[in-house]
Amino acid sequence: MKIFLDTANLDELKKGAAWGVVNGVTTNPTLIAKEGNAIEEQIRKICDIVDGDISAEVVSTESAQMIVDGRKLARIHKNVVVKVPLTRDGITACSTLSKEGIRLNVTLCFSAAQAILAAKAGAYIVSPFVGRVDDIGWDGSQLIRDIVLIYSNYGIKTQVLAASLRTSLHVTDSAKAGADIGTMPFKVLDMMFNHPLTDKGVETFLKDYNKVFQAEPVGTR
Ligand code: E4P
Repeated sequence: MKIFLDTANLDELKKGAAWGVVNGVTTNPTLIAKEGNAIEEQIRKICDIVDGDISAEVVSTESAQMIVDGRKLARIHKNVVVKVPLTRDGITACSTLSKEGIRLNVTLCFSAAQAILAAKAGAYIVSPFVGRVDDIGWDGSQLIRDIVLIYSNYGIKTQVLAASLRTSLHVTDSAKAGADIGTMPFKVLDMMFNHPLTDKGVETFLKDYNKVFQAEPVGTR
């Protein structure tokens, strides 16, 4: 499963990129607004940091304007994937833009039926929101399993991007379900490192070594 960061914050992206485990980025209008730059400018900066698919979302609600905006966003950089909502207008825009060779991420997907529509419209990525489905008392991870199953039944190439991941468990459940991509805030990626036995193990190894070699750097003896 590819790991994407769900942020438009450049410092977080630089930290994630330095770890070498980030394959792409998703943004949405809320995340862009937090950073205070116009979307074109912020997406350009993000493309300079992460070499992978970068989702940039349209902010219009009508298909005609989404198509105009989508073409503009796609011209920013070859890695830009245009994000449209899973509405009737969004699906219309997806059908038109995908025929022009533009790659689309259909977002705000909350049901397997919606994911079928995204695939039919030629989406490159569909984004089911695991956390927000859990929030209303349904099972977000089951939604990922259902979409992965349906797509595999028909050899559908649209990638399943598990979005709205809030915990390490969401990440591992999505990977177990066969999601192609998991997108998460920086704090969730950071949490994935944590295990008390890793910290304890590092501490013990170093203590044992230093008892004998008094912390001399490797190769200086
Ligand atoms: C996906 O691309 C969305 O930006 C994102 O995952 C939304 O997550 P949230 O429900 O935590 O806002």
